[in-house]
Amino acid sequence: MLRVWNNVYADAKENGTALAWELENIERGKPTIIKHLLRYLDVGRIGLELACGRGQNIKYLINKGKEMYGSDISSVAVAQSGLKNVICAESTDTPFETGFFDFIIDIGGFHHIERKNRSKYITEVCRLLKTHGYFAFSCFDTLDPYNTANKWAVSKYGLYVNFSTLAELRTLFEKKFKIKEVIKITWPSTKNRDHSAIGMICQTKS
Ligand SMILES: C[S@@+](CC[C@H](N)C(=O)[O-])C[C@H]1O[C@@H](n2cnc3c(N)ncnc32)[C@H](O)[C@@H]1O
Repeated sequence: MLRVWNNVYADAKENGTALAWELENIERGKPTIIKHLLRYLDVGRIGLELACGRGQNIKYLINKGKEMYGSDISSVAVAQSGLKNVICAESTDTPFETGFFDFIIDIGGFHHIERKNRSKYITEVCRLLKTHGYFAFSCFDTLDPYNTANKWAVSKYGLYVNFSTLAELRTLFEKKFKIKEVIKITWPSTKNRDHSAIGMICQTKS
């Protein structure tokens, strides 16, 4: 999977093209979920973006006064980000210190985590957050027009993407978090129909 993601970013750089998930920033200034999350965060605050890609959201949040870190499975994306606090790591297993972050975001990364690894992912997010820390994520839902199998889809690069229902996400995250907000999101697409996604803002229980 690492090689596939590296190819995605290497091709984008070579062709000078934006990737589909970069369009929300380009067309709307920032991802919807970040706009909502910022209402919960005071001045300062240390944040992490899991699956941060080329670091577009991290750069935005640094400009908003946050101290930001990031990680992504793709070493090519990490290199292209040009950011010093961004490292190459699987979202389910990062080297960051326990309880270091006030907030964590994941914009379009969670739907690439295989279902069998979802609990491991949630355990890692909880490990990294301070008590009452915030976790905000967005992922494809089952209403997405490109969800042909209603379960898994494989892109032209051979990437796995999974599609979740709101009920499924609630069941998963309610075990460890208080769900503060659920947001219906449309993501711009490189094709003719927008993507359909769910955003969720959660807070760790004490
Ligand atoms: C849709 S992109 C989103 C990138 C970024 N969040 C953004 O909005 O620009 C998904 C990202 O997830 C990363 N990724 C996929 N599987 C991963 C995993 N298991 N651990 C960490 N990153 C992963 C990919 O390399 C890719 O950068």
